Amino acid sequence: MRGKRAFRILFVDGPNLNVLGEREPSIYGRETLADIRETVKVTARREGATVAFFQSNHEGEIVERLQGAKRRFDGIVINPAAYTHTSVAVRDALIYAGLPAIEVHLTNPASREDFRKVSLVEDVVIGRICGVGGYGYTLALLALLHRLRREGARGRT
Ligand code: DQA
Repeated sequence: MRGKRAFRILFVDGPNLNVLGEREPSIYGRETLADIRETVKVTARREGATVAFFQSNHEGEIVERLQGAKRRFDGIVINPAAYTHTSVAVRDALIYAGLPAIEVHLTNPASREDFRKVSLVEDVVIGRICGVGGYGYTLALLALLHRLRREGARGRT
């Protein structure tokens, strides 16, 4: 039965998120990306979902990973980091992937510098989770699974 299958969710993180925990801890906290992924994995196991993780400091690598996600995954959780505000290429690749996606930010960009208030992906994702730190990734996973199950129940997957 469709509703019983394990949904596959790809987590994509952009530049400088590999140094989370050491990077501006007064803004981003002490939690590392590895810590966040561990928490996500616990929830994924409980929910019966399959998760994969990718982080890159290179725009083209992110584009290629998003392109490759088409047909291989059911949904995407993405924190494009600085590319949120600059990258038409990441936006276009997300559109190409054609999967339901949730945009995550550890901080709330709306309460920071003006240049962070622009997101080039906000209108091509199903929703955004901002300002709740690493917990946002787990919330995004749950939100995506909720959406995918609801679509499955309607016979649209
Ligand atoms: C960020 C916010 C971006 O403005 C910034 O460039 C990041 C992290 C966040 O998660 O809060 O690198 O995406």
